Amino acid sequence: MTRLVAVATASLLAFSLGACTSGTTGGGAATACNVGITMPTRSLERWINDGEQLQSKLKAAGCTVDLQYADNKVDQQISQIQNQIAGGAKILVIASIDGTALGPVLAEAAKQSIKVIAYDRLINGSPNVDYYATFDNYKVGNLQGTFLKEQLKLDSATTPINFEPFAGSPDDNNAKFFFSGAWDVLLPYVTKGTLVVPSGKAPKSNDEWTTIGIQGWASDKSQAEMDNRLSSFYSGGKKVQAVLSPNDSLAIGIEASLKSAGYKVGSDWPLITGQDGDKANVKAILAGEQSMTVWKDTRKLGDRVFTMIQQIVKGEKVEVNDEKSYNNGVKVVPSYLIEPEVVTKDLVQSKLIDSGFLKASDVGL
Ligand code: GAL
Repeated sequence: MTRLVAVATASLLAFSLGACTSGTTGGGAATACNVGITMPTRSLERWINDGEQLQSKLKAAGCTVDLQYADNKVDQQISQIQNQIAGGAKILVIASIDGTALGPVLAEAAKQSIKVIAYDRLINGSPNVDYYATFDNYKVGNLQGTFLKEQLKLDSATTPINFEPFAGSPDDNNAKFFFSGAWDVLLPYVTKGTLVVPSGKAPKSNDEWTTIGIQGWASDKSQAEMDNRLSSFYSGGKKVQAVLSPNDSLAIGIEASLKSAGYKVGSDWPLITGQDGDKANVKAILAGEQSMTVWKDTRKLGDRVFTMIQQIVKGEKVEVNDEKSYNNGVKVVPSYLIEPEVVTKDLVQSKLIDSGFLKASDVGL
């Protein structure tokens, strides 16, 4: 009896320890390094970098690699994955377009003991996801919300501030984490009336984020939405003073709308957030048209996924650092989270150029 209790306590301890420290999980038979990579689209800058970086690392390591982009079309991504399974892939790396649409094709992969790594975006509703590698998505939003709180000095503000929030693509699991991270900082000020939202598009809770979601993270859609808000709710000299944009592709659309509405940098241009460090947006930051971007060094994500693949290939345990945050509705997926960083005008050179993430010529420096 005492021995039984000892074993039970030991495993309980092991489980709770595993939840928040970096650990390893899985491991098993070695496998061939034959990798199928699918990325959402080539129309958003970062995915081109993500795909090509990982492909070249794997090729250099002698792996067989198939890299596909799916034009943000779910069916196209599913058939690309089916082709990779039929083509002999032993490991699938998937940055999903709609994380809830891959259950059936991953069941096919599981029948052949193919390992699946969810890349950047979690895959939901399937037991057949082995690992998840991403950035701390909640922190991305939290950094955006905290930036606006500090820049607007919300705790000491005496007059209401006109503010417009946006959220990401409703089919993207990351978007809810981005929004929750920001809204946990900003909603109290909306509730207090320090931040007012003339368009009325202020979700009452994190769960309502899709009400202001922009499908496909499309710049033309965020531009149209901002045009509509400015023309409908900003008359009689009323000016927007701050905008929560969850990423750079949406920010670039919002900035275009502000320009055509006559806003001028240095006079009435609002604070605008972003994410990704896209070239066009870094130029906008240098020109004062965007206040910050949350930089996610995609090279680190590529390195981490490369390491995970090497560990799987060798049949070793796979290193993870979060075994609690990402429940995909069927299981808690062992994850590796990478830190995002804020980049403002004065940090572009040191963080983006000196690190080699961008070339000076990419951003007109
Ligand atoms: C998110 C991703 C962001 C942003 C967005 C649009 O899932 O984490 O970095 O790029 O998609 O592609």
